[in-house]
Amino acid sequence: MSDSGADARYSALHKLDSPASRLIRDTIWSREDDIGQQSFITPRYIDGLITRLGIDSGSRVLDVGSGVGGPAIYIAQAAGCQVSGIEINQVGVEVAQELAASSGLGDRVSFHLADAMEMPLDDGAVDVAVSLNVMNVFEDKVKLFTEVRRVVEPGGIWAFLSGTFDGLTKLDRAGLSRNGLVPIHYDSLGGYRAKLQTAGFRIEEITEYVADFGVQLRRWAEAYRTHLDQIADEQGEKAAELHLGYFDTYVRLIDEGKAANHLVISRRPTGA
Ligand SMILES: C[S@@+](CC[C@H](N)C(=O)[O-])C[C@H]1O[C@@H](n2cnc3c(N)ncnc32)[C@H](O)[C@@H]1O
Repeated sequence: MSDSGADARYSALHKLDSPASRLIRDTIWSREDDIGQQSFITPRYIDGLITRLGIDSGSRVLDVGSGVGGPAIYIAQAAGCQVSGIEINQVGVEVAQELAASSGLGDRVSFHLADAMEMPLDDGAVDVAVSLNVMNVFEDKVKLFTEVRRVVEPGGIWAFLSGTFDGLTKLDRAGLSRNGLVPIHYDSLGGYRAKLQTAGFRIEEITEYVADFGVQLRRWAEAYRTHLDQIADEQGEKAAELHLGYFDTYVRLIDEGKAANHLVISRRPTGA
């Protein structure tokens, strides 16, 4: 994977132990809640997800857009199952592999440097696919969902947590865009429903996860505001300001009811 453009910017975000990252993470998470997530998810939320999705020691789980591997490793440890992560950023995969090696999980977790649009996995390779705060990077969601459907065995589950947007103005979009620093392709809940059905999934449950999400989002905004100078030293002034503008816009949109965060659980029908 080339280390240019959006990929290089993700690399900066994935250096978990850089001085600015440490400041950001220590503002957002208590040490016990910091599992190496690059998202708005808490360990408590993952515990509930494991139960809801019926993940147990026999499960083969896929994490789409696994970042630096924190949530994937947490799932493998908590459920005793196998987890594969697919991640497009090389630094993300390298950090994930280091975290996996130090967590002593052996070959129960593996991380692949790949585009989720074309995963290096066999048909029906997993029972459960999850994805945590990644969906907005994909422009062609039907194509992504079709690829996920290929690697999930018939009867298997596809569950993703994602921001959902409705009624955005031009100004709202500009605030979220970060000038293309990180790709963002908005979708409404209705859009997700239609695209999942087109890709051959049957929707089982949709849950709003906005309360805790709003709390996390405010913490990300606070962390960027508090440590803006140190973040600018590492990521550049423009990037630091764009990230802060994004978090502030997102918080406002939640307050205005134009943005939320949803867990969408669907199933690949058996015999299809
Ligand atoms: C907001 S982070 C979330 C990471 C992880 N799910 C977590 O909860 O910590 C989004 C991740 O998606 C990855 N990503 C972006 N485009 C991707 C693609 N086409 N295929 C796989 N991963 C991708 C990014 O590199 C980044 O690590």
